[in-house]
Amino acid sequence: LERIKLGVEPLDFGAPSGFPRKSLILISGDAGTGKSVIVNQITNNLLMKGEPAVYVTLDDDPTAVIDAFRSFGWSVDEFIEKGLLKFIDGFSFRLGSLKKQIKGVVREIVPDDTKKMIYVINEVIEESKMVNKGILILDSINELMFQLDVSSVIDFVKTLRAAVPKARGVITIITLHTTAEALNQLKNHLEYLVDGVIDTRLDPNLQELGIPLKQLNVKKLRGAPTNPLWIPYVIVDDGIRPVDQHKLSSLIKAKLREAVRFEQKPQS
Ligand SMILES: Nc1ncnc2c1ncn2[C@@H]1O[C@H](COP(=O)(O)OP(=O)(O)OP(=O)(O)O)[C@@H](O)[C@H]1O
Ligand SMILES: [Mg+2]
Repeated sequence: LERIKLGVEPLDFGAPSGFPRKSLILISGDAGTGKSVIVNQITNNLLMKGEPAVYVTLDDDPTAVIDAFRSFGWSVDEFIEKGLLKFIDGFSFRLGSLKKQIKGVVREIVPDDTKKMIYVINEVIEESKMVNKGILILDSINELMFQLDVSSVIDFVKTLRAAVPKARGVITIITLHTTAEALNQLKNHLEYLVDGVIDTRLDPNLQELGIPLKQLNVKKLRGAPTNPLWIPYVIVDDGIRPVDQHKLSSLIKAKLREAVRFEQKPQS
C-alpha cells in the first residue's frame, strides 16, 4: 500500500510515514483556520511532482483558487495549460448570465444532484487517466448541506470514497467548516466513514491572549501511524510553516516579566 507525503510540514509530521493513497481525508475546523490554504498547498506540491489534480470548487469560483495560488507565488497557470490542474466548478451556477469564462474549468455542476456529481467527477478523473496518482479536492462540502439533508451528504461521501480513492487509488480530500453547531452531527458521521481526519483550530490558550496560533491534529488515519498531537503552524508569504513550540514558549516566558504590572506607590 503506497503512502505519500503531502508536502505540508506540520501535516507530514502528524503522519510521519505518509498518507495512504487509497484514502478519503476530511479536514475540518472553524472558519479561517487555514483549511483551504492547506489543500491548496497539498495540490501545488503534487502538481510540482507532475501528478494531476482535479479540484471541485464549491465555496467560491476557481478564480479564487487561482488567485490564492498566486498569492503564495505558486505558478498555477503552467499547470492549467498543461492540463494537469482541472476544475469542476460547483459555484458559478449561481451567477446565471454574469458567468465568465474561467480557464481550467472542464465541467460545471450544481451541488444538489449527488448522482450527477459522482458521474462528472468520475468522468474527469478517467479523462485525466488518474490511477494510483493524483489528487481530488472538494472545498468545501458545507455547500452540499445547503442543498441536501445529512443522510444524502453522507451517502455522497460514501460513494465518492468507494469510486475514487478505493477504486482508483486517487487520494481525496474534503473540507468541512464546523462553525455552525448544526454541523456537528454531520462531522460525527463523517469521521467514522472517512479514512483520515485532520482537525484544525486556533490554540485555545493563546487565543485567550489574543495570539492567533493555528494548530492541526491528525486525529485518525487508517493504515498508517500518526503523531496525534496539536501541531502549531502559521501561514506566511510562501504558505504553511511549522512553529517551534519550545522556542515559542520560552519567548513568551521571557517576555512575561515585561508585562507584569506593579502597583504605583503613592508619593509621600
Ligand atoms: N497569501 C497569504 N498570505 C498570508 N496569509 C494568508 C494568505 N492567504 C490566506 N492567508 C491566511 O489564511 C487565513 C484563511 O485561510 P483559509 O481561507 O484557508 O481558511 P479556511 O479554514 O479555509 O476558512 P473557511 O472555513 O472560511 O473556508 C486567512 O485568514 C489569512 O490569515
Ligand atoms: Mg476555506
